[in-house]
Amino acid sequence: MGSKDSLIVTVLAILVFKDYLCESGLAATVTYDHRALVIDGQRRVLLSGSIHYPRSTPEVWPELIRKSKEGGLDVIETYIFWNYHEPVRGEYYFEGRFDLVRFVKVVQEAGLYVHLRIGPYACAEWNYGGFPTWLHFIPGVQFRTSNAIFKEEMKRFLAKIVTIMKEEKLFATQGGPIILAQVENEYGNVEWAYGVGGELYVKWAAETAVSLNTTVPWVMCQQEDAPDPIINTCNGFYCDEFTPNSPSKPKMWTENYSGWFLAFGNPIPFRPVEDLAFSVARFFETGGTFQNYYMYFGGTNFGRTAGGPLIASSYDYDAPIDEYGFIRQPKWGHLRDLHKAIKQCEGYLVNSDPTYERLGVNLEAHIYYKNTQECAAFLANIDKSLDANVTFNGNSYNLPAWSVSILPDCKNVIFNTAKVVSQRSLGDLSYAHPTTMRESLLGPSAWGWYKEKVGIWSDNSFTGSSLLEQINTTKDTSDYLWYTTSINVNEKLTPGQVKEAFLLIESLGHAALVFVNKRPVGFGYGNHEDASFTLSKKVTLNEGNNTLDMLSMIIGLQNYGPWFDIAGAGIFSVILSDLMNNTEDVSSREWTYQIGLEGEYLGLDTISLANSSLWTLGSDIPINQSLIWYKTTFIAPEGTGPLALNLSSMGKGQAWVNGQGIGRYWSAYLAPSAGCTENCDYRGSYDASKCLKNCGQPAQTLYHIPRTWVHSGDNLLVLHEELGGDPSKISVSTRIGQEVCAHVSESDPPPVDAWTPNLEVMSLNPEVRLSCEQGWKITSINFASFGTPEGQCGKFSQGICHGENVLSVVQQACIGQEGCSLPVSAANFGDPCPGVLKSLAIEALCSD
Ligand code: GAL
Repeated sequence: MGSKDSLIVTVLAILVFKDYLCESGLAATVTYDHRALVIDGQRRVLLSGSIHYPRSTPEVWPELIRKSKEGGLDVIETYIFWNYHEPVRGEYYFEGRFDLVRFVKVVQEAGLYVHLRIGPYACAEWNYGGFPTWLHFIPGVQFRTSNAIFKEEMKRFLAKIVTIMKEEKLFATQGGPIILAQVENEYGNVEWAYGVGGELYVKWAAETAVSLNTTVPWVMCQQEDAPDPIINTCNGFYCDEFTPNSPSKPKMWTENYSGWFLAFGNPIPFRPVEDLAFSVARFFETGGTFQNYYMYFGGTNFGRTAGGPLIASSYDYDAPIDEYGFIRQPKWGHLRDLHKAIKQCEGYLVNSDPTYERLGVNLEAHIYYKNTQECAAFLANIDKSLDANVTFNGNSYNLPAWSVSILPDCKNVIFNTAKVVSQRSLGDLSYAHPTTMRESLLGPSAWGWYKEKVGIWSDNSFTGSSLLEQINTTKDTSDYLWYTTSINVNEKLTPGQVKEAFLLIESLGHAALVFVNKRPVGFGYGNHEDASFTLSKKVTLNEGNNTLDMLSMIIGLQNYGPWFDIAGAGIFSVILSDLMNNTEDVSSREWTYQIGLEGEYLGLDTISLANSSLWTLGSDIPINQSLIWYKTTFIAPEGTGPLALNLSSMGKGQAWVNGQGIGRYWSAYLAPSAGCTENCDYRGSYDASKCLKNCGQPAQTLYHIPRTWVHSGDNLLVLHEELGGDPSKISVSTRIGQEVCAHVSESDPPPVDAWTPNLEVMSLNPEVRLSCEQGWKITSINFASFGTPEGQCGKFSQGICHGENVLSVVQQACIGQEGCSLPVSAANFGDPCPGVLKSLAIEALCSD
């Protein structure tokens, strides 16, 4: 065996042993110093990603974790969602999507670590930030401040989670995967609003956490005053300028946003991978050693789990793994390459603090030394528009604007954040194409419907002499609250004559449907930034009694901000005026209230009522009418992948499949028509409103149905439509393939993993690498050209120079394979134009 072989054997042995350590449950100590987390005495560079377990189903957790591991992650970060784990005080729930132990064990089995953000405040665009609503109703409670009742409940829940984790031996010191835990969440952002109580609360939270003796370090994010030994960590789009509050703590980043969340009525935010990679590289360049993507997989806000106001059901987040669990390219691949490049430098990064060297205006180098001879370097061009050539260590380098190059030997560039060589995927679930999608219309024939009553529907209504705040009234048992009263017109009207009046309704949010004499007269709604609204409508009244019924709706409870827990909702003012401008404030007259809808009370969403005689059957389904429950059955399109329900023909409501809530939908709310930048320039500082797409469109038209929620044969779909829609146009689809493409130049760096120390990287060829989702194979090559191909993925065309047999070479290498690699080199294809810089462009179809 040669020395290279024996090196490989040793490396393999170490890798196997490392995996074995984590999987077999051998105990590891976790501490930290000023450079890094220290696991079993070793400082570590760690890449982490957020995946929230209830935002997908347990059956797909292993797949998501596998894709995370292949993407180069070491750690999975998750919040814990108190309100679903303890829906009633003292009654715990840890089943199904909320089986926390199972989730942690899935991560452990894959050989990854866990960062458990116990909170118990999560934020996370989750209903009420994760707090149970019952907590709000304990007399005297005040959230997130030095309040004895709150502290007792919070401590009890923290202790509950820590106890479960200990019993299951899930902390690293017990042989488990948990290396880190978080208490609270970004309290530093709001602490000012809590005065002295806030400061005391931070100290108390820290002491309480430490007293639970988890044996792994605790963090508090966005908390400059985090007391020792708690590590204060950074959250944001960039964290290179962050320094922890003590020289004994490492520089850690708990939330680097891979995109941003989506709200109904808004365009879709996205973050270009070149900028995301730049932020990550800058962080490790400037001394960071732990970085987490928020989110690595966002998933879905099923049922009524979405926070508010108006958070959409999709929590896709433009994350490296999309809402449906598919790898998003080139994001996933470019970051995987970045992770590999950073890991090549791990030995240097953990050994020293970086040495700074100025290379020019907006041009920087940071060098990590292992000894005086050996070093790794990061070269950065932080200029927003100017590319640059720099000289470093005697060599010259080209640095595109807003990019970082990684040199694991202070010489060879193995990665540049702005040069994306990874494959791209074309289209997403919204682009139905027969070769990549299997779709079925639900058909107009098999529907049943139920007309919801307008106004009070039972004798458990109640009255009051003012307009009630909604959350305190419904206790969030339903999105809906009916406010009803009657308006008396005591003028004498001639037969057929009506009285015209104006109705002015003011609401704290989030939306309301208004009926006069049981007929819809208006719909008012707010938006995510401000859910309050006013609705002013001209109405016609009859002589004598008229009914006014207002259905006020909540679209997710507030999850962020100082004192967010006491933010109100619902209608607070109703004024009636006639055309002569005589006004009457009807706010404080007698109102009758009804919590929830009759259909909810009956359980129309459940399987047990699927065949109930409550449903009217027939083909003349009501279309474009408000407050209708619909049901039908459908056969799921064949396959094993997730399904998407297209609700673009519907208005606003909620949907259930086989009794499982797939979320709120709101196709009728279009995003503003301006403000989008489909081709967003990644250069320059990113923020959540910089790169937006989908202007003038509904935020979301496709709704995720996990495959495990359907079975062969008939599946039940129930919708509650509030505004009016056409259910006969609903369709359900599944993806059966994907078009992928890549375009790599002879001048691009070779694959990161081709590099080993002491090897002249420049002598290696760049490669086009294509791969399909597990289970799919490359079935056709739609385009292949080596020479000077033009255009972008999906729109390639041949340039002046192109080789002869390129297509057949590519077909031979790729067809029938799950993936293939092709060196971008004349040696592979022959040289169609000597002396010209060439590139290879390929577009392929993966299918099942
Ligand atoms: C942060 C918060 C996260 C999430 C994020 C936005 O402030 O810590 O939980 O809400 O914002 O997606």
